[in-house]
Amino acid sequence: MGEPREMAAQAWAPGKAILFGEHAVVYARPAIAVPVNQVQAEATVREGPPASGISIRARDLGWSHVLGRPLPPEGLLPLAVAVESTLDHLRVGRGQDLEVVVQSSIPIARGLGSGAAVAVALIRALAGHFQRELSPSEVSELAYEVEKLHHGTPSGIDNTVVAYGVPVYFRRGEAPVFLSVGAPLTLVIADSGVPSSTKLVVALVRQAWIQERERFEALFDAIGGVVERARAALLRGRVRDLASLMDENQELLRSIGVSSPEVESLVEAAKRAGAWGAKLSGAGYGGNVIALVAEGEAERVRAELLRAEAAGVIITRVE
Ligand code: PMV
Repeated sequence: MGEPREMAAQAWAPGKAILFGEHAVVYARPAIAVPVNQVQAEATVREGPPASGISIRARDLGWSHVLGRPLPPEGLLPLAVAVESTLDHLRVGRGQDLEVVVQSSIPIARGLGSGAAVAVALIRALAGHFQRELSPSEVSELAYEVEKLHHGTPSGIDNTVVAYGVPVYFRRGEAPVFLSVGAPLTLVIADSGVPSSTKLVVALVRQAWIQERERFEALFDAIGGVVERARAALLRGRVRDLASLMDENQELLRSIGVSSPEVESLVEAAKRAGAWGAKLSGAGYGGNVIALVAEGEAERVRAELLRAEAAGVIITRVE
């Protein structure tokens, strides 16, 4: 086992966007997600003063907690669990004096994987502190346990794409397949400004599925079909086919009932500005909209989306 480092150990993890297949992926259909490196979570771990215990601080939120003290602010609970389970996994014992600090530029509750990214950065920094390197699959599994606290019944796609940092084709219970894209994609990601609670939206979809099982199973099958076609188009670099598949996926998400007026207005604005295809990304009812655009059009689509009252816009390239 490695000795703790004198210097601070640092690690980071990217945000993510689901290109195809959200919600259906919870019901064992496939989905495709990509890392978004323009936004990141960072974690720093250093030795704390003697007998200080393990302190965790979320710098942006002004939250802090010392492990073992009365319950932390709710948002810190997953981080406390991430620290404990990583220490257990590393077999280093919980009686450490550590200062753990996390910060993130990933908007919270917008479908960009902020919870998974903070967990992955923290797990890696903690392992780094003890001079240990965890494999992406170990990191992903540890982060999945944390995702359960955020989401209840996560499919596992967020922790997978964030831990591996490459485009993935994901199906629950199967090994992820890493995709190398046949042609680069330019995505414009627009924040509706409306928080989207994954846990809540996933629970509402479940209720609807219980009530109208046959209809929802058919919708999930249709989404699964879109994902399979998208995987082939992605590998072959057929960007325009991908764009129409995004539109098709958005239509199916509307039928599931997870779109919203704010999402629709950004989808329309993106299309008006010349985006080839656009859809919500993540749980929906708000959160982010992703638009596939020609590289040279990205700035213009960004300006249009800001005029349509997007709370923020990121341009990213998938390659
Ligand atoms: O974390 P979000 O908001 O990107 O949502 C994840 C996508 C869902 O399919 C709705 C849930 C899941 O666990 O896959």
